Amino acid sequence: MAKTAKRHRCIDCGSTTARWAGRCPACGEWNTLVEEDQLGSLVQAVDDLDLSLMPMPLSSVDVSEAAAVPTGVGEFDRVLSGGLVPGSVTLLGGEPGIGKSTLLLQVLVARAAAGHRVLLVSAEESAHQVRLRAERLGPVPPSLLILSATDIGTVVKAVVDSAPELVVVDSIQSVSMGPATLGERRPTGVPGSVTQVRECADQLIGLAKSRQVAMVLVGHVTKDGSLAGPRALEHMVDTVLSFEGDRHHALRLLLAVKHRFGPTGELGLFEMGDQGLNRVDDPGRLLLGDRLTGVPGGVVLPALQGRRTLVVELQALVTPMGLAQPKRAVVGLDAGRLAMTLAVLASHAGLDVLKLDVFASVAGGVRVTEPAADLAVALAVASAASGVPLPANLAAVGEVGLAGEVRQVTNLPRRLEESARLGFDQVFVGASSPDGPPGLKLIRVQTVAEAVWRCGIPG
Ligand code: TYD
Ligand code: MG
Repeated sequence: MAKTAKRHRCIDCGSTTARWAGRCPACGEWNTLVEEDQLGSLVQAVDDLDLSLMPMPLSSVDVSEAAAVPTGVGEFDRVLSGGLVPGSVTLLGGEPGIGKSTLLLQVLVARAAAGHRVLLVSAEESAHQVRLRAERLGPVPPSLLILSATDIGTVVKAVVDSAPELVVVDSIQSVSMGPATLGERRPTGVPGSVTQVRECADQLIGLAKSRQVAMVLVGHVTKDGSLAGPRALEHMVDTVLSFEGDRHHALRLLLAVKHRFGPTGELGLFEMGDQGLNRVDDPGRLLLGDRLTGVPGGVVLPALQGRRTLVVELQALVTPMGLAQPKRAVVGLDAGRLAMTLAVLASHAGLDVLKLDVFASVAGGVRVTEPAADLAVALAVASAASGVPLPANLAAVGEVGLAGEVRQVTNLPRRLEESARLGFDQVFVGASSPDGPPGLKLIRVQTVAEAVWRCGIPG
């Protein structure tokens, strides 16, 4: 009788192979291939099913438990439309060093100061280090507990034993399941691997739901998104927050990318100082404080971040081509949109920019990738290339099409109001744009060429 070959299935991606290997040929994870007949039946026998669960009218579902509890850190609560919901799991993503641990420590301190028991699971820093950081932030309330551990079993036990109402796990990449004991099948792999991150998150999510604890997981994301771990969690958690900004600048932006308990448009603004993060009421002061006027290449743009308008300065610099290929570099802007804008300037506005090195950036560490930035980018480049400075009170907002046309943008009234409030009373907009607030001069333009010409730049 022919021997049937044993197939192996990857417990991570689910693909099968005939031969066992140390690494899954499909997803590249290590030690995830398991003999298929050892995996057990995937379909539960009908006899084993829990038949007590029946559909019920949606209108009779109790919603009292889903009420958000304010944490006491205003900007954090604003983004979460009120606060953290008991039993919910929130993932806070951001680049290393951006301030995730600081923000969450402040949230924990605020909640503990209000008399609630909260727990910080610090898997990256020792209790000593966290205490030192907490000292910088202010008094440390006694109901703030800390556990410095990396083993997920220890973490689960600590949460069950100490019964806190809020748990922060910093970070999900640093907790892991220990090696399997004999006869046990467990995901292996180093802490931070997709398998470990998912397995640990799964346990923590189950714990949050069963104990009605609000849980916040920290996830590091690198600039190029190369760390797949936290991204893989986005569909498992209730809320995904993104903490952004430039490490070299003080401004930090907190955005909800996904939120099951409210809208996602809110933006929280913080400033990193010596005593932690403080709310920013007037971002204009931080973003436009050091602006030089009367210099070619700078223009102001009312950019939309979530539902808030941030008025930022956009700068461009052009130099003669240094190498055989023209160089383009952007900071905080979309490189593809810059290339397109340059092509439009060359084809439709008669500006010879294709043979120049072009650098463009948004000052203050803010990222603006919306098409509404096109017109401002075009004017900044045109101004830099011609050496003609733009008026200090001028702002521009509009999407540029490939035919050189300037289009209207979303939420224009809000952008115009904020521009006017900060003293930018002349704004270039698309021809079909509605009127702005009184006292603001709208300069409606049909094409980029018209905008360039209106700025007194020879095309
Ligand atoms: P951290 O919260 O550790 O970042 P993350 O957890 O996202 O990796 O802190 C980031 C930086 O913030 C760190 O380099 C030190 C700085 N910092 C301040 O400037 N002021 C402060 O009060 C604190 C606590 C940190
Ligand atoms: Mg940290």
